Amino acid sequence: MGLSVIILAAGQGRRMRSRLPKALHALAGRPLLEHVYHSAAQLPRARIYIVHGHGGERVRESLSALKAEWIEQRQQLGTGHAVRQVLPQLKPGDTILILYGDVPLITAHTLSRLVEAAGDRGVGLLTATLNDPSGYGRILRDDKGRVAGVVEEQDADEAQRAIREVNTGMMALRCADLARWVSQLDNRNNQREYYLTDIIAMAVKEGAPVAAIPPGSVYEVMGVNDRAQLAQLERYYQMVQAQHLMQQGVTIVDPARFDLRGELEAGGDVFIDINVVLEGRVCLGSNVRIEANNVIRDARIGDDAVIRPNCVIDGAVIGRGARVGPFARLRPGAVLAEDSRVGNFVEVKKSRIGRGSKVNHLSYVGDSEIGRDCNVGAGTITCNYDGANKHETIIGDDVFIGSGTQLVAPVKVGDGATVGAGTTLTRDAPPGQLTLSRAPQRSVRGWKRPGKNSAKKK
Ligand code: UD1
Ligand code: CA
Repeated sequence: MGLSVIILAAGQGRRMRSRLPKALHALAGRPLLEHVYHSAAQLPRARIYIVHGHGGERVRESLSALKAEWIEQRQQLGTGHAVRQVLPQLKPGDTILILYGDVPLITAHTLSRLVEAAGDRGVGLLTATLNDPSGYGRILRDDKGRVAGVVEEQDADEAQRAIREVNTGMMALRCADLARWVSQLDNRNNQREYYLTDIIAMAVKEGAPVAAIPPGSVYEVMGVNDRAQLAQLERYYQMVQAQHLMQQGVTIVDPARFDLRGELEAGGDVFIDINVVLEGRVCLGSNVRIEANNVIRDARIGDDAVIRPNCVIDGAVIGRGARVGPFARLRPGAVLAEDSRVGNFVEVKKSRIGRGSKVNHLSYVGDSEIGRDCNVGAGTITCNYDGANKHETIIGDDVFIGSGTQLVAPVKVGDGATVGAGTTLTRDAPPGQLTLSRAPQRSVRGWKRPGKNSAKKK
């Protein structure tokens, strides 16, 4: 028996007040729909169908990497109507699991329990008891406590609205049953929609067992209808990630001010101070220290390295024992070897800085290769761009570049060379020598500073 998963994601998400389709709003850096997809994709051999509508092309393009079939629902006439669009694709013998694209934190574990609860001829329905059930459909039970149906909030009377057990919308059932019941839906209700939830009463009427099961945590069934709910789920998700990391031995100074939007691999005794945002794939060695206010994306940072406050690091590899910042910017292709230093207001792009070398203040290093044990003085600029093309600067080992130097690429500086402060280097500097370009200095005797223009006074 196969398993097909339908993810409903055609709704407009009006309450987000956004031009971006709701399915693409990000939670921990990933679209809401992708979270749901990932949980579904963990179920063995599941075929996944995504119903899209509003902004559908954009959603499909952004998520084209997902292994799913995309089905369009042209008009959003309700959740039952959305499911009906998929029916022709489904295998009659399959079990069908229905999920919502705006309920992102559902886990694969709960989903497999739900499929199990459906059994061979029944319905597995995920329900939750909430302190504040407003906005959700309510679960109706008969006097023996058996599920009798679902009533939407818009159609509920006062007594029904007081019910705290809610429909999460997620359910599992046999394809043949689903098809039969969906074909009987009508839209005679206050929203003029075909409610998928009406099939529960049909199942009960036919005597099919309806098993209501609870989720592992209420967060698993919380929907994102507006930005406040999105923020609430984001904080919960971040707290869970922070807790996992702390259990693994990472110090997180304040888990409420920690954001991981991707994957983090961390060695022993990593220290992470407040307001650190990690994106993409970040790999930290042992004893790495990330100080406050850093944004780090797609980076590898070696053992014992220290990232001082307020750096932006993107696509960089940082060697063991290196020190970066405060206020440094490492752009893609920056490679800092062991024990190197990149200090404040230094930008490094597509460049390698050799072992023990220092670029400590106010510099731009782009398309460069810097050897070992060099000192690059304050305000050094590699002039790598001629307005049309990029050129390389190659610096050997044990080089001293004086402050305020401009290296007009393509240019090479040999091993052991010294470049005098203020030099504009336009030709290669030979190894072991002092190279400098400087206009001769002069002083003007008897020169007077201009005074303030007296005509302007008054
Ligand atoms: C729905 C349920 C409600 C449940 C709640 C849980 C129905 C009738 N109601 O209400 O019982 O408590 O979810 O979160 O099912 N969608 C489509 N096509 C449509 C309409 C909706 O694909 O024509 C998709 C939406 O994109 C969304 C999901 O279905 O992902 C739910 O739609 P939404 O309008 O948010 O339903 P709720 O009012 O939240
Ligand atoms: Ca919803």
